[in-house]
Amino acid sequence: MVNKIGIIGGGYIGGVLVHEIVNRRLAREVGLCDPAPIPNPNDPPDRQAVTAKQSVAIGKCLDIAEGLPTVGRDIRLVGSKDYSALRGADLVINTAGVPRKARPDGTYPTREELLAINLKVTKQVAAGIQEQCPNAIIVSIANPLDAIVYLLNKLLKPPKNRIMGMAGQLDSGRYRYFVAEAANVSTENVTAMVLGGHGDDMVPVRSACQVAGIPVTKFLDAETLTKIETRTRKAGGEVVGLLGFGSAFVSPAWAALEMAEAILFDKRKIIPVCAYLDGEYGVKGLFMGVPCILGRNGIEKIIELDLTDGEKAAFAKSVQSVRKTCDEVEQMTAK
Ligand code: APR
Repeated sequence: MVNKIGIIGGGYIGGVLVHEIVNRRLAREVGLCDPAPIPNPNDPPDRQAVTAKQSVAIGKCLDIAEGLPTVGRDIRLVGSKDYSALRGADLVINTAGVPRKARPDGTYPTREELLAINLKVTKQVAAGIQEQCPNAIIVSIANPLDAIVYLLNKLLKPPKNRIMGMAGQLDSGRYRYFVAEAANVSTENVTAMVLGGHGDDMVPVRSACQVAGIPVTKFLDAETLTKIETRTRKAGGEVVGLLGFGSAFVSPAWAALEMAEAILFDKRKIIPVCAYLDGEYGVKGLFMGVPCILGRNGIEKIIELDLTDGEKAAFAKSVQSVRKTCDEVEQMTAK
């Protein structure tokens, strides 16, 4: 068991992470930090004073702590509005961000405006990690995933095995679920890999999808698989459309914990991870979703798959769009 896991951002995903870490007994201590709620400078001073005393992170930690005797767990829970709750964490999971929601005047921020806001949040996150737990292994979930991991890496420059993004485990989970449902078999029987960036051109690798070790094409025809792959690429948006209040939060938290458990228990488990490529797959200097062995040092090894020509072309297209996003990050952070 590690000593401490730090969670950055105590929203929907952060909340699930904390209670799952407690249930699974993954650490002796969990730190949760979130600046919310932030006083609104347009509010009257007495209202601002009330908001300044409130804390989503401290409140969520206290709520869970008060349930510890009931579920029979002993774990220290620390919440904070600043980054102090991260102090000494061995592993941090970053969920900090601002979602795309209507402003008070009813207009929505553009994609660029939202990216700029989230890059600013990420700069604060990086400073918090640097100050409180500079040697922690970093697993980042916040979106836009590819841009945020890239910026965290640029600002913190950790060893490349100690920083990664969570996307492939979630995207592969979606692919596996849709295959299991269509083939009418246990989800446990389906293995699959979704590689590349965490956008519409992610790459569900059909040649690596198996049902109980048997190629998926024995169970489902090409047309069904194409539909499943299209649905997988858009699966995040499908949940957003249904929920109407935000994005998926349970499956992303579980996916990040699958990665965390592989690291904490030195499982050497092969998981698709958004990892820094240094020549692998012909890519240098970008984070892309690729299969990795995760163990006590974080990314122990990147595994290079023999992709079909079609998959190679799809991966190359995904690389192009991740590169475009990272160029945007460079431009926006140079200002
Ligand atoms: N430092 C720490 N936390 C922050 C900061 C910051 N600088 N800025 C915002 N936050 C917090 C918000 O206050 C909020 O509580 O991050 C939290 C994000 O939580 P939610 O909005 O509930 O979002 P959630 O559903 O948890 O998703 C988090 O993961 O999948 C991605 O797209 C999703 O980027 C989003 C992230």
